[in-house]
Amino acid sequence: MIQEAAERSRERLGVERLDLLYAHIDDHTVPQRETVEAFAELVAEGTVGLLGVSNQAVWRVERARALAAAAGLPGYEVLQYQHSHLRPRTDIPDGLFPDGSLGHAGPELRGYLRAEPGLTLVAYSPLLKGAYVRTDRPLPPDYDHPGTPARLAVLREVAREAGASVNQVVLAWQLGGQLPIVPLAGASSVAQLEENWPPPTWS
Ligand SMILES: NC(=O)c1ccc[n+]([C@@H]2O[C@H](COP(=O)([O-])OP(=O)(O)OC[C@H]3O[C@@H](n4cnc5c(N)ncnc54)[C@H](OP(=O)(O)O)[C@@H]3O)[C@@H](O)[C@H]2O)c1
Repeated sequence: MIQEAAERSRERLGVERLDLLYAHIDDHTVPQRETVEAFAELVAEGTVGLLGVSNQAVWRVERARALAAAAGLPGYEVLQYQHSHLRPRTDIPDGLFPDGSLGHAGPELRGYLRAEPGLTLVAYSPLLKGAYVRTDRPLPPDYDHPGTPARLAVLREVAREAGASVNQVVLAWQLGGQLPIVPLAGASSVAQLEENWPPPTWS
């Protein structure tokens, strides 16, 4: 199934080799060893470069990496999780995550990354889909807690002092922070891209 999905991705992208392939969401019904071996096979045959993982519990990521290491196989190196300046509550259950969201780069994941400097955090939705700058894009309900106004106030103050937009500050803090983060920022126009891109001196 992983072979098939990777092949379909290569076809859609029109490439011989996927530079990076993510395991997205976890399927606890499949033995992890099988998944690890199937991903490693793709790397061995040369159709995939790096392996990544998204929205999985940290203990599952570590277990998969340990299984790969013990078998001398390549493991996940790129971790894609939601991360921004504002911090969401992660205790709200939903259909996908009955114990609360596993898709956010919370303290456990950040601690894991600090302990494993070879890993890379790719932050999805770093601009909260435009919510920092748009009144038509309200923050999701999991940001409704007392930490949000405090963090927003600091962000806006720093942006004012720096003569930058809040989006630029959010991205610059990710790129230049103690824990280096690759922001996976979206833009649907050149104007948005130009407005958001932090100057190189910030990183
Ligand atoms: N692993 C996962 O589960 C997962 C989940 C979500 C996303 N992702 C990945 O992350 C990528 C980025 O996600 P995202 O789009 O949520 O990222 P984002 O950077 O938080 O939001 C980008 C969106 O914000 C709005 N925006 C950006 N700059 C703006 C500006 N200066 N002024 C006004 N509006 C602005 C635009 O919305 P409009 O286009 O509506 O104008 C833009 O498309 C996606 O392409 C996807 O590959 C992964």
